[in-house]
Amino acid sequence: MASRIGTPADWLRALLRVPLFIKIVVANLTLLAAIALLSAYASSPGGWDSPTLWAGGFLLLALLNGLLVRLALRPLRQIEAVVRRVEEGDPRARVPESAIADRELHRLAEVVNRMLDAIEGERHLKARLNASMARAEEAERGRIAGELFNDTSQTLSAALLHLQLAARHLDGGPGSERDPGRELESARADVLAALSGIQRIARSLRPPELDELGPFTALAGHARRITQRTGVPIELSGALPPGTLEAETSLAFFRVLQEAVTNAAVHGAPSKVQVSIEVMSGEVRAAVSDDGRGFDVGALDDHPEAHLGVRQMFERSRQVQGELQVRSGKGEGTTVVLRVPRSQKNVGVA
Ligand SMILES: Nc1ncnc2c1ncn2[C@@H]1O[C@H](COP(=O)(O)OP(=O)(O)O)[C@@H](O)[C@H]1O
Ligand SMILES: [Mg+2]
Repeated sequence: MASRIGTPADWLRALLRVPLFIKIVVANLTLLAAIALLSAYASSPGGWDSPTLWAGGFLLLALLNGLLVRLALRPLRQIEAVVRRVEEGDPRARVPESAIADRELHRLAEVVNRMLDAIEGERHLKARLNASMARAEEAERGRIAGELFNDTSQTLSAALLHLQLAARHLDGGPGSERDPGRELESARADVLAALSGIQRIARSLRPPELDELGPFTALAGHARRITQRTGVPIELSGALPPGTLEAETSLAFFRVLQEAVTNAAVHGAPSKVQVSIEVMSGEVRAAVSDDGRGFDVGALDDHPEAHLGVRQMFERSRQVQGELQVRSGKGEGTTVVLRVPRSQKNVGVA
């Protein structure tokens, strides 16, 4: 120990690192002692008798004392300056290592730096999430545009062609030998197909039951369609009376469970999926569990650009003060639990 602080520089460093409290006490004691010495000297025979000299000496000592206290407090001022710089928009500012900070101030600087790191990390995460939400939105728009162009607009073009042929027949123009009844029938079938395509797209954007009958019914409709598509049975239990959730929470609740149910049936290849919804005193709890192949939840972070579904589930839950847990493991099935706060208007009515 002693050998580690052997050189003069080490001694000085050790001296500067004594606690702030002791530094200030020592500075003040030095001033007191100096005043006592000065007055003893001034009153001794041959001592100072000039009041100017006396005052000058006193001022010098007070200045020295002020400097000492200021030096002792410098690490605190550094911390304050860093916090101000961060407030003014420099998120990278950090408290520098100080040679004169005592252990307490050193720890305080470390805590402040750690806190600033955490805030910056959170900011980055949020920016990444916003970017991925924007990407997901763009992908969704692309999908809808694709469906509208490739499916609906082509079906309507075909209907138009059939109608033109039927009209030509009525005019007696070229191609009028085609049976107008058959053309009209084909046009009718095309318009019906386009109509159901539009309904499907509108439903995928926002199921009409969601506003009218609430997320439980909307989810039941979604589950039915997924079962038709994948053949996986989906059991829905519990209830959620309309008005239990605020409008925004209700939408997020539906979207998160919609994605969880789709993922379970599509990715998990389970024998069945179970969805249960429970209204509790202050919150609504929903669980979606499947006995499928499961997956490594932590591994999703390795590909932040892909797999936006699960990421959005977390973000949506967070936006409405909800809490989401995804428990899964390879070969162990998956359970997604979502808790969201109940609407304050209806708490206690359930
Ligand atoms: N219930 C589940 N069972 C098995 N694998 C799942 C389940 N939910 C999610 N996954 C896995 O997590 C990945 C990410 O899901 P998600 O973020 O919804 O993206 P996407 O559905 O577009 O692939 C899926 O590709 C799948 O491998
Ligand atoms: Mg998905």
